[in-house]
Amino acid sequence: ARKLIIDTDPGQDDAFAILMALGAREALEVLGITTCAGNIPLALTQRNARQVLELAGRPDIPVFAGCPRPMVKALETAERVHGDSGLDGCDLPQPTMPLQSEHAVAWMIRTLMAAAEGEITVCTLGPMTNLAVAMVMEPRIVPRIREVVLMGGGFFEGGNTTPAAEFNIYVDPHAAHTVFTSGVPLTMVPIDCTYQAKMTPEWLSELRGLGTQTAVQAAGMAEFYQRYGNEKFGVTDYCLHDPCVIGYLLAPHLFEGRDCHVAIELQSPKTIGMTIVDWWNVTKLAPNCRVLKKLDNSAFYELMLEKISCLP
Ligand code: BDR
Ligand code: CA
Repeated sequence: ARKLIIDTDPGQDDAFAILMALGAREALEVLGITTCAGNIPLALTQRNARQVLELAGRPDIPVFAGCPRPMVKALETAERVHGDSGLDGCDLPQPTMPLQSEHAVAWMIRTLMAAAEGEITVCTLGPMTNLAVAMVMEPRIVPRIREVVLMGGGFFEGGNTTPAAEFNIYVDPHAAHTVFTSGVPLTMVPIDCTYQAKMTPEWLSELRGLGTQTAVQAAGMAEFYQRYGNEKFGVTDYCLHDPCVIGYLLAPHLFEGRDCHVAIELQSPKTIGMTIVDWWNVTKLAPNCRVLKKLDNSAFYELMLEKISCLP
């Protein structure tokens, strides 16, 4: 199985990504979950990660808390989307599995340095602070990473947090810049792609119909999340962003994209956090990132349902 570190700020859609990865045990081995500040503060993201692991019967996977704030900017959170807990919509007990005492960045560095070159894939589902700080602290991790697959950015359709910027990049653009200029193999799953991952009411009732504790709680989260899409965009089929990253790792043929040069805007107050994707290669700069733009929505949701159905 492919060894994976998941860096995340759960978040309902982060929870779906974690569950999808856990359900794909034959393909993915989750070494640990590192948490960052993003959708909600760090104290809640690390707790939520542990709740999700316990729900799925995997308290053996270690959870680490990382950086409590972005590298340069002040933290901005998204309770308006995810609710005050970050996982509103489900009803989970306080976790009993421990939070690891080691800092997420220290564990990431230690784990990557102990692994063979190209052995471990890192996926980031929130602001990229932890990975960026790890790269600053120990640049020798860069060639050891097989690939970074991140949910973040947006280009053709602009941003979801400012007109120019998507949430994960907007919250910590300096971290994103650090990773995008590091030379690490990168695949970016922007909102252009994830907005196609529309969760239909039919799918949601199929999920609930699985009847397992994981499926029932996940359906509760999805319904809460759906409501936001409903209020904001007037749609009944809002999308789940973060599981697209796991979908890509499991079934890359369901996605289409292009290798592009991507830069992160750090200066302009109006566009800070914008991902400047050179889709047409007008700059002639060498590509530093695979940018996904299309996905096969129904096959993706079928795959997610199948993986979640493997959990208790
Ligand atoms: C991203 O922002 C968060 O609200 C979601 O969890 C996702 O990672 C989408 O812009
Ligand atoms: Ca997220």
